[in-house]
Amino acid sequence: MSLSPAFLDELRARTSLSALVGRTLKLQKAGREFKACCPFHNEKTPSFYVNDEKGFWHCFGCGVHGDAIRWLTDQRGLPFMDAVKELAEAAGMEVPAADPRAQERAERAAGLHEVMSAGQAWFEEQLGGIEGAEARAYLEKRGISEATRRRFGFGFAPDARGKLKAALKRFGNEALVESGLLIQPDGEREPYDRFRGRLTFPIRDRRGRVIAFSARILGAGEPKYLNSPDTPLFDKGRTLFNIDKAAAAARQANRVVVVEGQMDVIALDQAGIAEAVAPLGTAVTEMQLALLWRLAPCPLVCFDGDAAGQKAAIRAALRALPHIAPGRSLAFVTLPAGQDPDDLIRAGGRAAFEALLAKPEPLVQRLWKHEAEAEPLATPEAKAGLRRRLLDHVSAIADPDVRDQYRADLLARFDALTRPPAPARAAWQGRPGRFQPRQPVSAAAKGVGSGSLSAQTARAVLAGLLLHPEVIADHSEAIAALPLPDKGTADLRDALLSGALLHGALDPAAVDTILQAAGAASLAEKLRRARGLAFSFTRRDAEPERARRDLVLVIDTLAARPGLEAALAAATARLKEDGDEAAFREQQRLLQARGEAERQLAALIEGAAG
Ligand code: UTP
Ligand code: MN
Repeated sequence: MSLSPAFLDELRARTSLSALVGRTLKLQKAGREFKACCPFHNEKTPSFYVNDEKGFWHCFGCGVHGDAIRWLTDQRGLPFMDAVKELAEAAGMEVPAADPRAQERAERAAGLHEVMSAGQAWFEEQLGGIEGAEARAYLEKRGISEATRRRFGFGFAPDARGKLKAALKRFGNEALVESGLLIQPDGEREPYDRFRGRLTFPIRDRRGRVIAFSARILGAGEPKYLNSPDTPLFDKGRTLFNIDKAAAAARQANRVVVVEGQMDVIALDQAGIAEAVAPLGTAVTEMQLALLWRLAPCPLVCFDGDAAGQKAAIRAALRALPHIAPGRSLAFVTLPAGQDPDDLIRAGGRAAFEALLAKPEPLVQRLWKHEAEAEPLATPEAKAGLRRRLLDHVSAIADPDVRDQYRADLLARFDALTRPPAPARAAWQGRPGRFQPRQPVSAAAKGVGSGSLSAQTARAVLAGLLLHPEVIADHSEAIAALPLPDKGTADLRDALLSGALLHGALDPAAVDTILQAAGAASLAEKLRRARGLAFSFTRRDAEPERARRDLVLVIDTLAARPGLEAALAAATARLKEDGDEAAFREQQRLLQARGEAERQLAALIEGAAG
């Protein structure tokens, strides 16, 4: 029996080599690889390396190496077919039944590779010829350089039914039809050229061999892109456009970007981002995910901002869930609606695209947003529905540790969104008047002995949150509990909190959008320009790490203040009533705690100004 190379490739792709080897050897992480003492020779320091990306193990001491199958045959001593069966079972794959025609098919495939490379050469030749003028003009109009044109093998299919057929006659119609270059109509009619009047470019396999073509119409018309049909060489769900070039670049960059369109990939490559791939006009498949995870631990899915693109992104997220693990996930970058990566690069260059890539949304956040925004949570049924959908997603995750983390994370978000407002949260739930506005006090006397914040302190904290919005999501409880002195600052805080609740860690651009939507933009603007209490977090030039730490410290201290004041008042009242020693000690302890908190606050003030 012979197994096809495609089957064995997929088997390797779906097998985690380190997990397999790790069952027998104690592996240590070593950069992007794992190492251990070699099981094939005697040694005390590890020179045996396992590389998951390449799917290979290698010993630098004794030179042995192999893949997952070789591990089972050489280390465990299994016969080849048993090794394949064991791996296939673990990977949930069916071992193909014995097929006497497999050999013949393999030979046919070899013949098809020749057909495809001849087709590619012919298309390229046409692009250079007289008939290729319109296609050349089109490439120029799109800003595709001569170098990119050659690198991606652009060609031209003339608008005729028999030109390619005549040029590649030597292969015979049967092979040309099987390769997808000719269409065989039903019945006895003659086959004819599939690609006509289109700009062509090849789709290549991992080894760089042409396995299909993609062809774009030059003017208006349908379909915009025409791809080769599935053939013995080409299965569109099992390959990614540009996988041949992106693989090496991805390992270097330690990232891989998935975009929707092949032209986007080409534009990114031209702009210097070579680690980009695209599915071929279909939803991302599990096989494509497996390919991506061999390139980088957390592929960046960067689909268009329109409804179709976003739907495709969430489908990829759902498809990934069963397979995520520590060090294996997806992240999402959403493009501005109406712009694809190609448009973005043309408008803003590589920098514009890198800026988006720098802040990807984790899978969990994406999932949460998708479900939380699915419908209004006005009724208990709707809330229960959201909770159930979240838990359904959690149960799709196979890895038990990741599953636990997702459950905890998603339920915490759910609770925060649906819990009835606790007293301390009332302010940001939009009930004005809970906290008594106070007279602004001087910086020196600020807040000491009172529950509510001085206007100045409140402004300073809010200005800090505007400068460092990324801390909001993780400290929402304390921020919600801040006793803000007036409706304006409370409303601003509410807007920031709801934004963080819905979107996770905020960046300054997101904050602007949120504030505009909440009608709080003008107060925010005032705060940003205001001079008042000088903390590290109100200075734009402060070291961000320290500013964030100070900000969180101040928030925590201020949020705790009303509770401390209430406890102190209660202890003082008890002391007056029955004067016992316990009440006295309690009062002293609380006074000391308050003093310490206020000293800490004062120490963070870098100098008061008017
Ligand atoms: P788009 O319609 O977004 O095209 O299709 P695009 O990539 O921006 O192309 P340009 O910039 O107009 O040239 C996105 C992807 O969907 C698939 C292709 O893979 C395309 O790259 N598609 C689209 C098709 O397969 N067939 C089509 O007719 C259209
Ligand atoms: Mn486009």
